[in-house]
Amino acid sequence: MAFTVAIDGPAASGKGTISREIAAFFGFEHLDTGLLYRAVGFRLLEGIEPIEAAKTLDMSALDPDALRTPDVAQAASKVAAIPEVRAALVDFQRAFATRAGGAVLDGRDIGTVICPEANVKLFVIASPEVRATRRHKELVEKGLEVSFDEVLADVLERDARDMNRQDAPLKPAEDALVIDTTDLSIADAVAQVVEIITEAGGAD
Ligand code: DC
Repeated sequence: MAFTVAIDGPAASGKGTISREIAAFFGFEHLDTGLLYRAVGFRLLEGIEPIEAAKTLDMSALDPDALRTPDVAQAASKVAAIPEVRAALVDFQRAFATRAGGAVLDGRDIGTVICPEANVKLFVIASPEVRATRRHKELVEKGLEVSFDEVLADVLERDARDMNRQDAPLKPAEDALVIDTTDLSIADAVAQVVEIITEAGGAD
């Protein structure tokens, strides 16, 4: 059975961790769609034209760790505003979403554009300060020298660009359930989402 879970939300809202844990719990495949845009952003920083990069994307040629830097995140947010870049990535995401055995996709436009028919749609949010604190900790643990203020500015800049673009802006689908992780541990958020998915038939 193809069971699809769409998880959208702003940067560092907790959607990535929730998605990974949900996929492991139900035995679903997980696609972090932000990595696709990060890969195109990475190529842009190498001087490659982004639409061409999106059309010829080979994720296996890139190290995921090299994609998780603030510079690549900003480049990803910029290339993500180009409609032809988004269009080039649609088929891959939709094919992933309908694979047998269930799939969780996380991103910005999964519930609105990529999988409007998803069985469960969630929109994960948290205050900018909490999100920047989480992202700052992650980056420092990886050995990157970056200040909290820089991370907060980066998160706010990306939010504004991702929410205000014309094509597939970041916003909840009308029927998405909002999960606010500002005062909720990720473990508690995962427990809530397990319940939501089980009630929707994801464990059947
Ligand atoms: O989820 P992330 O922070 O790794 O995503 C990086 C950027 O990619 C984000 O700022 C906007 C873009 N993105 C998008 O436009 N649509 C998606 N489905 C996923 C990410």
